[in-house]
Amino acid sequence: MASVPSLASSLHQRLSAALSSALPEAGAADPLLRRSDRADFQANGMLALAKKLGGNPRELAAKVVAALPAEGLVRDVEVSGPGFLNVTVTDGAITENLAARAADNRLGVPFKEHPGTTVIDWAQPNVAKEMHVGHLRNTVIGNSVVRLLEFTGEKVVSRHHIGDWGTQFGMLIQYLIEHPHELDHKAGETSGEEAMSNLNRLYKASRALFDADEEFKGRARRRVVELQAGDPETLALWQKFVDESKIYFYSVFEKLDVEIRDEDIVGESGYNDMLAETCRLLEESGVAVRSEGALCVFFDDVKGPEGNPVPLIVQKSDGGYGYAATDLSAIRDRVFNLKADTLLYVVDARQSLHFKMVFETARRAGWLNDEVTAVQLGFGTVLGKDGKPFKTREGETVRLVDLLDEAISRASAIVREKAQDLTEEEIAERGAQVGIGAVKYADLSTSASRDYKFDLDQMVSLNGDTSVYLQYAFARIQSILRKAGDAAPVAHPELALAPAERALGLHLDQFGETVREAAAEYAPHKLAGYLYQLASLYTTFYDQCPVLRAETPGQVENRLFLCELTARTLRQGMELLGIRTPEKL
Ligand code: ARG
Repeated sequence: MASVPSLASSLHQRLSAALSSALPEAGAADPLLRRSDRADFQANGMLALAKKLGGNPRELAAKVVAALPAEGLVRDVEVSGPGFLNVTVTDGAITENLAARAADNRLGVPFKEHPGTTVIDWAQPNVAKEMHVGHLRNTVIGNSVVRLLEFTGEKVVSRHHIGDWGTQFGMLIQYLIEHPHELDHKAGETSGEEAMSNLNRLYKASRALFDADEEFKGRARRRVVELQAGDPETLALWQKFVDESKIYFYSVFEKLDVEIRDEDIVGESGYNDMLAETCRLLEESGVAVRSEGALCVFFDDVKGPEGNPVPLIVQKSDGGYGYAATDLSAIRDRVFNLKADTLLYVVDARQSLHFKMVFETARRAGWLNDEVTAVQLGFGTVLGKDGKPFKTREGETVRLVDLLDEAISRASAIVREKAQDLTEEEIAERGAQVGIGAVKYADLSTSASRDYKFDLDQMVSLNGDTSVYLQYAFARIQSILRKAGDAAPVAHPELALAPAERALGLHLDQFGETVREAAAEYAPHKLAGYLYQLASLYTTFYDQCPVLRAETPGQVENRLFLCELTARTLRQGMELLGIRTPEKL
């Protein structure tokens, strides 16, 4: 089995390699090694191998044991059951491996062997609209996936496909023409909240007029045509709405501690010039056909309730373009201009049918193929405590900012209660880091595709699978390291390890593989699960193994070394989730 040679191959990888080379006649068969409760590792590969070679698995396993290289790595190996191998590694091998990790500023996390270019579509709110919990998910998950991919060496281009185009702008712009100065203020003068309330006010007022006044409705509709035709005055007013919305978006992103770059915001409007050409290419190649005046793509397996085919409409019969034409144009841009080989979309799972049809259309057109692929990382719905999609008591969507403010205020209360030597300013800063961390972690710690309940009490709990628990574990280690005085963290591979040290050490050694897997599968929850287990193993270690009062100076140093590597691993892991780890809490 080929293992990626890196600064610090994990014990898992080293053992796996040793086992497969112990049986050369098996042609480097995968020993199927995994962590186990009985020993450190269990290898189950002999069973399949015996079947293939036509031998007895127990005999085969015994042969492997006999051929296993003796030096250093393996302390004990026994054949059990029908032919499993239970392997215990030496304490020295564990400490040596960890020392190699500690010597690397990437903690031994390997780079991807063949990095490519991924264009990731994430954090895509809509202009002139309030952000809600759905936008929390596409922002938080997207940000973590960007970090994971970049860390493994992938080239990542972000695209924030904001909803900045469409018929509602006719109404808004027309209203602004008839009520000028409504959005007049100097740059930098308006807070995010004020910007959103300006937009809300305009939205409500123009909507009311639109519904009540037939003549205004007519003017609004003509304004859409002007906008699409690129009339300069109309576009300038449209830009005012976009700019006002960006003030608001950026304030929310800042609160979420997520960095968004202006050049990566390429909304629906950004593909306007490509739409006609996209339609022409699809029609000429026969991928799309005219049906009742509309340009449509049909699919064998997409049918309505009565079995009638439901097409993807690329151009409406009135000539207008919609969401699909924009996404198809964006694919052309991302593949041919940005040279992506992977297109990733962090978008609500309820848009899965749309993406399935869009991707299939792009494949038929030859824009996507075996080398250039598209994936939707579809996320589930955020639910209220009642298990229904999260709404206010009045049945309205919950404003994201309100939730974030509430999380920050609860977290600040906790920080204040526990604070020993923190200033007011520090309490406010930590409160935000803990509160936002809690919201992000709750989102990232379950598999993205699943729905989850938004439960602030649970999110900010100090015990259990929360970021607060992880942040406290980190801060506690920092405080031990501060108290260590002259004693320095030094690895001592000659020392025997206590069971809690071995368990912690073996887990620390899995960090690289965990990160690689989480990145490859776009699965931050795997990293979150790993970190929670790390903090739990550390807690056990801390309970069972005195650090500063250990028996010998060497043991103090070695335990400090374990503490420090745990802290660095927690910090790096949390950073990949986009969550801060304050030094003091
Ligand atoms: N703005 C959309 C929404 O809020 C999400 C856009 C997703 N990205 C895309 N390329 N369609 O639901």
